[in-house]
Amino acid sequence: MAMRSLVLLCITLVLVPVSLASRKWHFKWEVGYVYWSPDCRENIMIGINGRFPGPTIRAKAGDTIKVELKNGLPTEGVVIHWHGIRQFGTPWADGTASISQCAINPEETFIYEFKVEKPGTYFYHGHYGMQRAAGLYGSLIVDVADGQKEPFDYDGELNLLLSDWYHQNVQAQMLGLSSKPFRWIGEPQSLLINGRGQYNCSLAAHVIPGSSTCRSKRGECEPVVLRVLPNKTYRLRIASTTSLSSLNLAIGHHKMIVVEADGNYVEPFTVDDMDIYSGESYSILITTDQVPSSNYWLSVGVRGRLPQTQPALAILNYHPNSPSKLPASEPPVAPTWNDYAHSKSFSYKIHARRGTPKPPTNPVRQIALLNTQNKIDGFIKWSINNISLVLPSTPYLGSMRYRLRNAFDDRKPPENFARDYDIMKPPINPSAMQGSNAYKLEFNSTVDVILQNANALSGNVSEIHPWHLHGHDFWVLGYGDGRFSKKDVTKFNLKNPPLRNTVVIFPYGWTAIRFVADNPGVWAFHCHIEPHLHMGMGVVFAEGVKLIEKIPKEALACGMTGKTLMNNHLP
Ligand code: C2O
Ligand code: CU
Repeated sequence: MAMRSLVLLCITLVLVPVSLASRKWHFKWEVGYVYWSPDCRENIMIGINGRFPGPTIRAKAGDTIKVELKNGLPTEGVVIHWHGIRQFGTPWADGTASISQCAINPEETFIYEFKVEKPGTYFYHGHYGMQRAAGLYGSLIVDVADGQKEPFDYDGELNLLLSDWYHQNVQAQMLGLSSKPFRWIGEPQSLLINGRGQYNCSLAAHVIPGSSTCRSKRGECEPVVLRVLPNKTYRLRIASTTSLSSLNLAIGHHKMIVVEADGNYVEPFTVDDMDIYSGESYSILITTDQVPSSNYWLSVGVRGRLPQTQPALAILNYHPNSPSKLPASEPPVAPTWNDYAHSKSFSYKIHARRGTPKPPTNPVRQIALLNTQNKIDGFIKWSINNISLVLPSTPYLGSMRYRLRNAFDDRKPPENFARDYDIMKPPINPSAMQGSNAYKLEFNSTVDVILQNANALSGNVSEIHPWHLHGHDFWVLGYGDGRFSKKDVTKFNLKNPPLRNTVVIFPYGWTAIRFVADNPGVWAFHCHIEPHLHMGMGVVFAEGVKLIEKIPKEALACGMTGKTLMNNHLP
């Protein structure tokens, strides 16, 4: 008896602090246009509470985040997506316009409330039109719950949110992308680290006292200084929310140990430089074991496209050196933009850390998704199995849950593509269709998706596409060059495939992923390159929709069918 009560006492002691420790964070945000000079050139951007980038959210695993989001944009809707957060039980808080909710109207407020269950490096961003490219983003960092430990040690932490920036406003960009003739947005004018970059002026000019060419009124384009003490280990959290660019990051004279990817631990491995695709996040460990009387460059350059953008630079500032002391050696240079072998070798090194859940062995369904560039009535689009995604006016979540008719195209989208399609050549018949079809997945079933890359409209062009899945993590089972064949299944890594929410397809290659459709909701799966998504490069998955309860009204009532729903039979 005494023994038993002792055990009970212990359990109480352990449990009480844990439950007390899980907190609710309440934020009031207003989205609005701001004048800002992210790269020392003044522009109009979308900011939050008058600033760019948006505030960093920091919470612990198990906490609840509540964001009261007011739309202060006078003439357009807005939503915010919490990238990497799975939204178990709160699919209406995923923040995807036309999928999980109606865009929030000007002057209106929507309440996002959701749990962050897993520690990791995440971010949030606009998910309506191309508002992410207009600057609507920020960091979301989840620490381990009280009493838990990360599986690696470090003395300090630094956070880097990477993005790219165009001087042309996003309305002009969107118009060009949907014009005939097509007007491509081109390469970004600058790369930003934590929302700061330098256009057309060397960073050196900044640090040299008295130079004025690269300054902004309120220090908006001050170079990022990472203050460190010698002989310590730092965790760098790195995430990319670029509109277009794939990135490479290196720190002069310092090795990097990769330990986390997309909120999942990976088997640690050491590299001199790393690639980061839009939608991905990583944690790396660095040790400040270099000559302490010097500072060092951290450099971020472009991969996969002929760079026309200056690398972004930050200074690793060893204490007690002045932050304006220029590093003794030149900034590290990114590998040649089209050295795909280098990129692949990095991706192939990523494996799940021991203890990570393993994938179920038998998928019930395999969906092959062919990525092509197409023409529809002379407009250039991206399509998946010949369907270019156009989102309906009434969000899927409500229209599926309440079985509204004619809210979207409810024919089954194709699960495969022509056997004789030559992925190495431009399409013989480039025409495709527009559609809003969704893939309905059996609840709790295991699904494999094969993402197949192909040649674009012009010869000898195949681009990188980072694919991001909402509502789930997936296992990356493998990559390959050329067209996927049935035999490739035998090469899948079922032993230690990494869990992620974003994965790249390399030019002319395929990538295989597996996930369990265990999260009731409607989820976007799309290329994270903003102009590509805008041009139709995505699909929609739906699972367990019947199990969803009480969707907030504001998430439902837009578009013709959504309004009918409100007027007639809303529960
Ligand atoms: Cu970060 Cu649907 O995207
Ligand atoms: Cu793409």
